[in-house]
Amino acid sequence: MIQRPRGTRDFGPEEMVERRYLESVMREEAERFGFREVSTPIFEHTELFTLKSGPAIVKEIYAFKDKGGRDVSLRPELTAPVMRFFVNELNALSKPLKIYYRGPCFRYERPQSGRYREFYQFGAELIGSDHPEADAEVVALAASIMNKVGLKDKVIRLGHIGIFRKLLTELGLNEEEVSGVLHQLDKKEFEEVRSSLSAHSEGDEIDEIIEKAQTRGGAEVLNDLEGEAISHLEQVLRVLESYGIEGIEVDLGVVRGLDYYTGMVFEIDAPRLGAEKQVCGGGSYSLAEVFGGAKTCSTGFAIGFDRVHLALQEEGFRIPSSKVDVFVLPVHESLRWVAFSITSTLRSVGIATEVDLMRRSIGKGLKHADSLEALYTVIVGEQELEEDSVAVRNMESGEQTVVRIEELTDFLEKELG
Ligand code: HAM
Repeated sequence: MIQRPRGTRDFGPEEMVERRYLESVMREEAERFGFREVSTPIFEHTELFTLKSGPAIVKEIYAFKDKGGRDVSLRPELTAPVMRFFVNELNALSKPLKIYYRGPCFRYERPQSGRYREFYQFGAELIGSDHPEADAEVVALAASIMNKVGLKDKVIRLGHIGIFRKLLTELGLNEEEVSGVLHQLDKKEFEEVRSSLSAHSEGDEIDEIIEKAQTRGGAEVLNDLEGEAISHLEQVLRVLESYGIEGIEVDLGVVRGLDYYTGMVFEIDAPRLGAEKQVCGGGSYSLAEVFGGAKTCSTGFAIGFDRVHLALQEEGFRIPSSKVDVFVLPVHESLRWVAFSITSTLRSVGIATEVDLMRRSIGKGLKHADSLEALYTVIVGEQELEEDSVAVRNMESGEQTVVRIEELTDFLEKELG
């Protein structure tokens, strides 16, 4: 028997139903926020990933030579490919450009639960704005997607990597050294941070950096701090509050593992997943100039699609049964034609409508409407039809209202909200 490669998975029919459902919820929400889909190749020139992160990243990705001797890599993420696409072909579009994507990514990881060598990301990038409202829009989309898929147990943590980039640069570290210390801060390796910085500072500044990286709590933890980054973060939080996004924590220890972040950063955890609990990560970054474009501020995130699915399964996830808004029930066979015409009109305005196809009696028809969990039943009866009307039954309260057919769509749209 040939086994599948380590860190990869097969997905059976039932799992695919759930994955397709989750994907459609994520897509719908992204589009509601005005993001549009793009797709890029599964493999890229390795340079695309080493330009910003350095050659060391090759150890962590599937990098190889193709038959023509070119260095290519399976993509470990989609931000760099999307920015390459933007710089080469999309940069004339009006800003901010709001795009989303979904697809497989590959990392040469040590596989464990929630950590795979082939995994899927659903992500979004908002390109061309450095305003706090642009950052907030991206966080709001990530949070809304998590709410829409029904993830209950989650923590959203917001930080700003600019705070540390500034402090470390002021200490005289070069870009590579800054990146090294940021990685140590990301892993909370504070002793290593101390030794990396010992040649640059007597100690006070190191204490300040480590203390900042441990600042965590509500928006009020920012009150005693100052600086551009802090005021940016405060404004992001205010916009999120206006959007009604709840449960955001400030955690200046969010530093992120990738090298391109410059400003606000955020992560979403699903604590039930244990070690691999991070289900989404993102932030603002500047990559366009690295790929030969003009400097362009962008913000984005990627959701670990597989981890969200795992977290939902831990919470007892079930795909909601497809809801029928209205069941149309003619009380007599001779009235079927009117029922079909009403059904078609309701469907054409987007009301999910089913019509009786079994010539049921009114009693059996109402029972069927109950089993469908229809919210309303439109009863087409002779008496009401004489007045060009139908009876609309609220299936929860049992209350019945006679409504003129020409007003039925308006009536139901209002009732259904
Ligand atoms: P990232 O944090 O490296 O960010 O990955 C995003 C998410 O992908 C993680 O939070 C995690 O849920 C999931 N993930 C990462 N590695 C694995 C793995 N081996 N197995 C399963 N899931 C995994 C990025 O990739 C950035 N491109 C996000 C971004 C977009 N920042 C700005 N725009």
